[in-house]
Amino acid sequence: QLRVTPDDLRTMKADGQRIVALTAYDRPTAEVCEAAGVDVVLVGDSLGNVLLGYETTIPVTMEEMLHHVKAVARSVRRALVVADMPFLSYQADLTEALRNAGRFLKEGGAQAVKLEGGDRSAETVERLVTAGIPVMGHLGYTPQSAHVFGRNVVQGRDFDAAMTLVNEALALEEAGCFAIVLECVPREVARALSERLTIPTIGIGAGNGCDGQILVFHDAVGWGPGAALKFVKPYANVGDVLRQAVSDYAREVREGTFPTAAHAFSMPAEALVLFEQ
Ligand code: KIV
Ligand code: NA
Repeated sequence: QLRVTPDDLRTMKADGQRIVALTAYDRPTAEVCEAAGVDVVLVGDSLGNVLLGYETTIPVTMEEMLHHVKAVARSVRRALVVADMPFLSYQADLTEALRNAGRFLKEGGAQAVKLEGGDRSAETVERLVTAGIPVMGHLGYTPQSAHVFGRNVVQGRDFDAAMTLVNEALALEEAGCFAIVLECVPREVARALSERLTIPTIGIGAGNGCDGQILVFHDAVGWGPGAALKFVKPYANVGDVLRQAVSDYAREVREGTFPTAAHAFSMPAEALVLFEQ
């Protein structure tokens, strides 16, 4: 089976075919995505809050990202694997950005990277693309700037802010991004933007006018607090299923009803005779 490429995503947009994206962080989540035919698997720095217990994505390191990028890259063949560049791995200078992005392809086995920001990141995008690294952009609410945004989650709500978003998206397209994530922007702005761009937009909290959609894996399957966010639809209640399973296990172990003989090994009769003497 052929690997999805950045070019394929542009073709899908041109053909009006929606792009399905989801995060994955390890083999079990990546295999579920692959089995469902997800087109783009993002190893998001959301692993900071979703898996590693941080409050934000800000503490996530290159090493933590690489650890998970490798696991996902080893587990999927068809989906395009995009590695999220963690905070401060690409903002300080172009050379450092290139070396870090390169590690995700060279050591991690990803086929592309994602980074946050429009104008502030355009030069970096250009540098990476020139070096042969496909880059996905990320505009609107960018979680690595959580302390700047404060409680203002939805971005581009008034005319000026919307126009800024449009210009930043055009700058990212010009810089060479193959797609742009739009996070928490009004659906009207996301739709207009998607019409203006030739590269696909991947929405999260951006309505249905985008060229594709992404969610955090755990939110999408109803595992953890993200399932309750306004822009999330939980397609299962995996958290409930897991809590029930683990409490049943704990009860049966305490009662002595698990394991039974069916879950155990036994000695052959001849050996048992000797053993029991
Ligand atoms: O880190 C992440 O999971 C993301 C997506 C939600 C776009 O950046
Ligand atoms: Na992210």
